[in-house]
Formats: sequence, structure tokens, C-alpha cells
Amino acid sequence: MSTTTPQDVLATGKLDLRAALIERIGGYMTAHAVGVAAELGLADLIGTGSRTSQELAAETQAHEPSLRRLLRMLVSVGVTEEPEPGRFALTDIGSQLRSDSPDSLRKFARMFCHPIFFTSWQSLHHTVMTGERAFDHVYETGVYDWLAQHGETSTLFNEAMSEESRISAGQLAAGYDFPATGTVVDIGGGDGTLLTAILLPRPELRGIVFDSPSGVAEAPATLSKAGLTDRCEVQAGDFFQSVPGGGDLYIIKSVFQDWGDDEARAILRTVRAHMPESATLLIVGTVLPETADTSAPVAYFTDLNMMVTTGGQERTEGEFRSLLTESGFTVRSVGLGQAGPLSVIEAVPTPAA
Ligand SMILES: C[S@@+](CC[C@H](N)C(=O)[O-])C[C@H]1O[C@@H](n2cnc3c(N)ncnc32)[C@H](O)[C@@H]1O
Repeated sequence: MSTTTPQDVLATGKLDLRAALIERIGGYMTAHAVGVAAELGLADLIGTGSRTSQELAAETQAHEPSLRRLLRMLVSVGVTEEPEPGRFALTDIGSQLRSDSPDSLRKFARMFCHPIFFTSWQSLHHTVMTGERAFDHVYETGVYDWLAQHGETSTLFNEAMSEESRISAGQLAAGYDFPATGTVVDIGGGDGTLLTAILLPRPELRGIVFDSPSGVAEAPATLSKAGLTDRCEVQAGDFFQSVPGGGDLYIIKSVFQDWGDDEARAILRTVRAHMPESATLLIVGTVLPETADTSAPVAYFTDLNMMVTTGGQERTEGEFRSLLTESGFTVRSVGLGQAGPLSVIEAVPTPAA
């Protein structure tokens, strides 16, 4: 039996350890607080200056004493600051909740703090005990089928993906040696954010955004805003059935983490069957280290979020290599961290024996 007394805890510096664990237990409280701030648009109202809780409550029709406590709690986690009692400003972290920020994550926060995710995570225990997706357990359908039936949330999801993609898309577009001509096909390309970043600086290059009907719903507007309608097509379909043929470069970004190995191989085989023998495939996504460490918690958050919602997983380089080899591809290079936090795996069709 332990003989540790409360005095021992104070004396040995264990108080910090207790606080560290309690902060982690409170992670869900932080997520709820950030989600409500994003939903109310508090960062837009605060902007670059500072606002009192009375002003913010009046503009959001919120209950002032409760809103003030929310803002104070957000100070404690580095999202807001309280330069004087009752007046609040944004930190650099919190500024990313502004809708007009070029690196805005407001829609990303609204989406991942949406009830469909919170409710699914409440069944994490079920997933851990059974291996069954919590999302399907709760909603009796898969997350993408659910989104296809809920247009408003599907739009928010596509916009959240676009926000999340913007930085890595820019980095990939600038850092990878894309051809000047030919056609790039973005499989599961969502609203076309990545293809826009790739095509804009290369006036002779053409593109095809391919995704499910609900996945591509926002793509025509993105392409039209960028003036790319004449050289970028939008095609709706199912990557388990077919993908556009005739491309020179096929990109699949942030898709494989949504799927288990059987489905990932099925997607790769569809692509392999439709792409020309001379084309190249780029997989862009997280590559996990062989053993877990504390350097990239977001990768593990996503991995667990996939386990709960889509049944997918993040993968190590070795796991990607196996999937590609088994699906008829030869890996040509692996650029760890080549697209912001994301990595780039370049593969080509293995010639038929
Ligand atoms: C996590 S999102 C990534 C979107 C985009 N590539 C990005 O990086 O922001 C996965 C994408 O796969 C699409 N998707 C899911 N099932 C699909 C299917 N059966 N056929 C085509 N696309 C699908 C989704 O609609 C979604 O746009």
C-alpha cells in the first residue's frame, strides 16, 4: 500500500505533475470553450484591439457573467489575454480564430468542436473495447454518408478541410517540382484549395478536382474565384469505383488516414487501374514515426479521431510502403515534412511482370 502523504506530494514537486495530469483531463473543457468562442465569432468581434465582456455579451446576446468566465478560462490556455479586468484581447494563438485571418482556423474549430464529433468521442470507450467506429455506433452510418445527407455541415466540413490545407497546400505548391504542362488530378481534392495553389503559378498546367458529390460541392466556387474555371475541371465520383484517367500527376492528400488498410489498397488499385503507366502518384499526409513521442501530438490526435469517426488511421513510412507495393506501385522518394507538417511520398506504377 502507498505511504505517500499530502505533505510528500508538496515536498517532492509532485504538485506540478498532478496539475499536468489534471490539465490533460480538462482537455475536453478547453475544446468546448474554444468551440463556443469560434461559434460565437468572439475573435472577429475582438479583432486586433480589445473589448470588454459587456460589449462582447451585448453583440452576441450572451449572458455576460458566463461569457466573462469563458474568456478568462481562454486566457488560462493562451487563447485570449486580459490586459485589464473584464477587457479581453487575442493572443497570436487566438488570432487564428478570426475569420479574416489568412491562416484562419475558425471553421476548423467549429467543425471539430461540432456535436457530431463530441458525441462520437463520448463512445471512445466502445471503440477501444470493440474496434467498432464510435461514429457509426452513434449515428448508424459512416461519417461521409452522414455528411452527404447534411448539406450545411458538409459545407462546413469542406471549408474546415480547406482551412487546414491552406498552409501545406502553399508549401507543396512552392516546394515540389510540378511539371509546367500536363494535367494534375487531385483525388479526394475537396474544394480545390490544393489544385488552386498548384495551378495559379503555372499557367500551362491543367487540373481535375475529383471527389464525392458532396465533397466537390464547394470546388466550382473556389476555382471560379481563382479564375481557374477554364483549366480546372470538377468531377464527382467514388474513388472505390473509378477515378479520372489520362492525368500526368495524381495527388491524394489527407485521404488515407480516413480508411483502414483494405480500403486504402482498394483506392490505390482504382488509381493504379486508371492512371497512365507514365504518370506519377503523390501521397501527401502525415507519416508517423516508428515509435510514438511527444513531438507531434496533432498526428496522434488525428489518428485517434480517425479511429473514432472514420475507422481509418495514420501510418508510418513502412506501412505506406507496404500499401503501395501491394497495390502495384514502386516508391520513388519520401519527403518527410516536405509539405508543412505533412510528408510527400512519390510513387510510380510498377510495370506489370
Ligand atoms: C479529409 S478530406 C481531405 C480533403 C482534401 N484532400 C484536403 O486535403 O483538404 C477527405 C476527402 O475524401 C473525400 N471522399 C470520401 N469518400 C470518397 C469517395 N468514396 N470517393 C471520392 N472522394 C471521397 C471526402 O469527400 C473528402 O473531401
